[in-house]
Amino acid sequence: MKIIVTGGAGFIGGNFVYYELKNHPEDEIICLDKLTYAGNLETLEEAMKNPKFKFVKGDIADRKFVYELFESEKPDIVINFAAESHVDRSIEDPEIFLKTNVMGTQVLMDACRKYGITRYHQVSTDEVYGDLPLDRPDLFFNEDTPIHTSSPYSASKASADLLVLAYYRTYKLPVTITRCSNNYGPYHFPEKLIPLMIANALADKPLPVYGKGENVRDWLYVEDHCAAIDLVARKGKVGEVYNVGGHNEKTNLEVVKTILKQLGKPESLITFVTDRPGHDRRYAIDPTKIHNELGWLPQTKFDDGIKKTVQWYLDNRNWWESIISGEYKNYYEKMYANR
Ligand code: NAD
Ligand code: TYD
Repeated sequence: MKIIVTGGAGFIGGNFVYYELKNHPEDEIICLDKLTYAGNLETLEEAMKNPKFKFVKGDIADRKFVYELFESEKPDIVINFAAESHVDRSIEDPEIFLKTNVMGTQVLMDACRKYGITRYHQVSTDEVYGDLPLDRPDLFFNEDTPIHTSSPYSASKASADLLVLAYYRTYKLPVTITRCSNNYGPYHFPEKLIPLMIANALADKPLPVYGKGENVRDWLYVEDHCAAIDLVARKGKVGEVYNVGGHNEKTNLEVVKTILKQLGKPESLITFVTDRPGHDRRYAIDPTKIHNELGWLPQTKFDDGIKKTVQWYLDNRNWWESIISGEYKNYYEKMYANR
C-alpha cells in the first residue's frame, strides 16, 4: 500500500509517519509538506533513513504540483493533516487558513477523483462543533452535534469537512473524517499551550494564561490519535465521521500547574493576560462510535502522557530551542508583548 501523508513535517503528521513506519512496515509513506513555519524537517530525520519513506516539498493547494505527484506516485490512500492549525494566527490573518484548509482539501480530493484512490481521510477537529458551556458537564460532542464554529480556523476546518462529505455524496469519493480533541506530545510546535508553557517555565519566563484559565480542553496523547486515524482510514466506514477523544478534560490552569509542578517551578510564573477573542469555553468528545465500531480506546492517561511529554522537551531541547530562537521570536513579541 502507498500512502500520501500531507503535513507530515508538523506535529500530528510527524507522529503519524512514525506510527505507520512502526506498525505497517510493509507500506510506503510519501510525506507531502509545504514546510511552512510549522513544518520542520528535523522531525522527520529518523524517518528519512527508512527506504519506505519519502519526503516531497509542495503545497496541497497547488493543483499542477499535486496532480503531477499523484500521476507519478499513484497512491492508494491519502491522509490529509496539512493545515494552518493555530487559532490565534487565524484571528490575526484568516486568509491562508481558507487557502490551505479549504482550497487545499479540494485540490487533494480532485486529484483523488482524477487518479483514483481507495481512501481519502480528512484529519479534522472537535472545534468544528463550537464550544460547550462550563456549567453543563453532562454535555459532549457526538457526530450528530451541529457544526457551529467560533474562529476562522474552526470555520475553515468545518468548511473542509462539508466539502469532504459533499465529494462522498456527489462523486462517491471514498472518504472518512476524524474529529479529534486537543493533542499533546512530542514535536508539538511551541506556539501551542502545552509546549509554550514548558518552554517558558524552563526559561523562568511568565506563563501567559488567557482570561482566568477556566477554559476546558479534552487532552489526548498524540499516539492515541494516530492509532485512531490509522484505524479509521483503513477500516472505518466510507462517508462516516468519527469523533476521537479520551475523556481527559482539564482547565488550562490545571494543565499549567501540572507542568510547573513537574518542572519544579513556582506558580508565581503564571500571568493572566487578555483573553482570546471568541475563546471557546469547553470542548468534550463522546468517543462511543469509534469505540463501538472499531474498538479504539486511548492507551495513555493524562498523568503519564504529560510526564512523557515534559521529559521529551527536556531531552530534545535542540528541536524546540532552534524554533523559538528564529522567526518565532517576532510572532511571540507580536502576540504577547502588549497583552
Ligand atoms: P501543525 O501546524 O503542527 O502542522 C501542520 C503541517 O502542515 C506543517 O508541517 C506545515 O508545514 C504543513 N502545511 C501547512 N500548509 C500546507 C500546505 N498548503 N501544503 C502542504 N503542507 C502544508 O498542525 P498539527 O497540530 O499537527 O495538526 C495537523 C492536523 O490535525 C490539522 O489538520 C489540524 O486541524 C488537525 N487537528 C489538530 C489538533 C491538535 O490538537 N493539534 C487536534 C485535532 C485536529
Ligand atoms: P491552543 O494550544 O492554542 O489550542 P486550541 O485553541 O486549539 O484549543 O490553546 C489551548 C488552550 O490554552 C485554549 O483555551 C487557549 C489557551 N492558551 C492560553 O491560555 N495561553 C496561551 O499562550 C495559549 C497559546 C493558549
